[in-house]
Amino acid sequence: MKKNPIFVALDRPDLDAALQLAQELAPHVGGFKVGLELLNTAGAPHVVAALRDYGLPIFFDGKFHDIPNTVAGAVRAVARLGVTWCNVHAAGGSAMMRAAVAAAHEGAEAAGVVPPAVLAVTVLTSLTVTDLQQLGVWQIPNDAALQTAVVTLAERAQAAGCAGVVASPQEIATIRAACGREFLIVTPGVRPTWTGSQDQARIMTPHDALAAGADYLVIGRPITNPSPDVGTPAAAAQRILQEIDGTPPLPVGERGGRGGGL
Ligand code: C5P
Repeated sequence: MKKNPIFVALDRPDLDAALQLAQELAPHVGGFKVGLELLNTAGAPHVVAALRDYGLPIFFDGKFHDIPNTVAGAVRAVARLGVTWCNVHAAGGSAMMRAAVAAAHEGAEAAGVVPPAVLAVTVLTSLTVTDLQQLGVWQIPNDAALQTAVVTLAERAQAAGCAGVVASPQEIATIRAACGREFLIVTPGVRPTWTGSQDQARIMTPHDALAAGADYLVIGRPITNPSPDVGTPAAAAQRILQEIDGTPPLPVGERGGRGGGL
């Protein structure tokens, strides 16, 4: 059976709301992504235990970024929960990423579960060259330099033992060329033609992101907050799956800029 590449971001303010969404979407997605809002509201062990009932892979999007010892402790705890993927920021450094990978194995072994694959976040898909320049800590004068920075971070992640990266669709092809076929590329910043971009900046459609070489897509608001003309979250997920299979997208309205709504 063909794999469903969609990990839906269950970005909801409480566990009941997230589980309601999970119940509706379980037949239509390939996995669930749980992130900072839900994990900090409901508590990671509760969230993972409740979602495990659906039998789908769980991406624990904790985006850890701290000193190696602290990140190792966090990843060890997450690994014990039995999730499929967890992640750290590549900008935390090679030692931190190596510590995370080792901790994933230690935690899983202690709990008798399969270790999660550790993914590294390269550069957040919400950041533009202008944002990075304003931060003043990285020399990113243009889009080409951003691509180079992302690929360098991906290579460091691979060397540290990470199984893949979380990266913008626009960087997939260069990461794939640098890191090879086996390296997982998980892509947020995915937007069908019929939604706004919201706070995501470096975006692409689901179809194009997969064609560029992404293995999986993380999609939140286009599915979880669909506009009335799209209908329910399940309808939005189905529409995206059809578009991935090549059915032409039905344009709805105009794609918004940053901060634009659905
Ligand atoms: O609603 P939207 O489709 O923008 O949701 C994207 C999800 O992917 C969010 O939960 C966000 O935290 C996550 N994410 C991201 N960019 C990354 C890593 C994760 O947008 N680099």
